[in-house]
Order: sequence, then structure tokens, then C-alpha cells
Amino acid sequence: MKANEIKVFCPATIANISCGFDVLGVALDAVGDEMTVRKIEEKGIKITKLIGQDLPMETHKNVAGVAGLALLLASDYDGGFEIEINKKIKPGSGIGSSAASSAGAVWAMNHLLGNPFQSTELVRFAMEGERLASDVAHADNVAPALFGGFTLVRSYEPLDIVPIPAPADLFATIIHPQIEIKTSDSRKILKTTISMETGIKQWGNVGGLIAGLFMEDYDLIGRSLVDHIVEPIRSILIPGFDEVKKASLKAGALGAGISGSGPSIFALSKGNETALKVADAMKKVYEQIGIDYEIHVSKINMDGVRPI
Ligand code: HSE
Repeated sequence: MKANEIKVFCPATIANISCGFDVLGVALDAVGDEMTVRKIEEKGIKITKLIGQDLPMETHKNVAGVAGLALLLASDYDGGFEIEINKKIKPGSGIGSSAASSAGAVWAMNHLLGNPFQSTELVRFAMEGERLASDVAHADNVAPALFGGFTLVRSYEPLDIVPIPAPADLFATIIHPQIEIKTSDSRKILKTTISMETGIKQWGNVGGLIAGLFMEDYDLIGRSLVDHIVEPIRSILIPGFDEVKKASLKAGALGAGISGSGPSIFALSKGNETALKVADAMKKVYEQIGIDYEIHVSKINMDGVRPI
């Protein structure tokens, strides 16, 4: 690998994790994009290759291009970058497709420039990719994609990202029914206000989940994977959601819910063996109702974007 180019793995992510809409996320190990970023003399950013998915290659229409431009504008580097993307995460799948490309681009560029930017600045640049993809610059996918593990967006203004530890034996199962749900569409159907009663239940669970992750208390993690606000509305868009969730819990999952804005459904389990059993249970549901799917069982990715 030449010093002026780097190839990186950009992990898929589960955002929200049931109770933490727009604030919680976790990075996955089993699925992600690959990207090669190269310094060039010419100013600006060029997407020179994009394989795997049908997405725009024009810099201003591509999330990696837009996130990269945000970094370029803030830097004093007077050259540019070429990007090659092997897009393995389907857009509209709910496992952070746009975040992986945005995070990968800014991480790789920062690396090639000698790391002039701090982690919070990288999150800000990558959020511009999310703004393009979903009209809202949310950070709950790009933060774990960049840093790995679980992350909490404690505040957006000012941006304050808190890394949260992951118990060593925690595994994720993710099933992706082969339909596409645009994040922008699935945000439009949400209510803009909640009652005090609902708020109390929800922030109890957010606190419980964070405490459970710190204390490696798997039961507490499971009890806290409850969403009183978003899941009741969005789950209507996902075929077989209730059945998949029920089957996952019966197979031993700690909890299950919508991955990001869906349609993927995630479950967290203690141990790989249980996560595999949960995968079998999820598959059976979609096979019975005749829905095509992709499925992943993954340990938690603790590195975020990494050179390969
Ligand atoms: N928090 C965002 C949402 C994540 O649920 O709309 C999108 O992946």
C-alpha cells in the first residue's frame, strides 16, 4: 500500500438500539463497505469507482463525496482525493449504509493528511453525508461507524459523543427483509411530541441500557431494550415484525427491535450460540411468510473504520 492511499473497512451499524432514537448506536463486525481513498494533486473529490450498488458517482450526490468535501473545506490541504467504493451494505436497509461510506471517507482522508482532525470533527463531517441521505444530520450511525463499540450522542449542540463499553459476550443478529425503507420517509411518519408518561418510560430504559452495558448485566440490557416511542409506529412498515421479534425472544435473545429506520430487525444475545439460534428462528418466520431476506450474526466491532 502506497503512503498516499489507504483501503479501509467501514462497518455497518445498528442505530437507536430500541430506546435511544437518534442517540444510541453500535458497530457490527460481520458486514461493511470497503473503500480505497487516494491523495491526488487536483483539488476536490472524485468518485472513480463504485461497485456493488446502483448509487450516484457525482461528488455532490454521493454521501462519501459530500462528507469528504466537508473535511476538505475545513482543511488547509490544497490537493484532492479519489475514492473507490465497494458498496456491500444495501441503501435503505437500516444498518447504516450511508453512514459507513461517510465515515469511511472522512476517516481515510484524515489518516492520509496525518490526522489533523479530532474525532468529534470527523463525526461532524460524516454527518453531512447523513444530511444528504436522509435530510437530517443524525450522528447515531456515523459515531459508532467511526469509533466502534456502542456510542451515545449525549448532545448534538454542542456535539458530545460518549463511548460506551460492550460486554465481551454480546452478539447481534440482524435480518434484512428485502424491501427498501428510506430513512427520510420513515422519519416523516413519526410524531413530533410525546407525553411525560412515555418520556419517563423511555429514559428509564436508556439509562438502564447504558448501565447494563457498563455493568455487563445481560438481564438489565434485555429489560431495557424497549421502545415506547418509535417502534409502535415504524413497525407497521415492516412485514412480519411482531412475529420475528417474538420468535427471537423465544429463541433466547435478550431483546429485539428495529435496526435504525428499518426494515432490518436486530436482536442482541448473550453468546454466539444463542445469536445463531435467534438467526434460525428469524429465518423460519420469513420463510413461512415467503419474504426474501439477508441475515447476519455479528460480534460487536470495537475498532470502527479500520485499514485492511
Ligand atoms: N436515528 C435514525 C432514525 C437512524 O431512526 O431515523 C437512521 O438509520
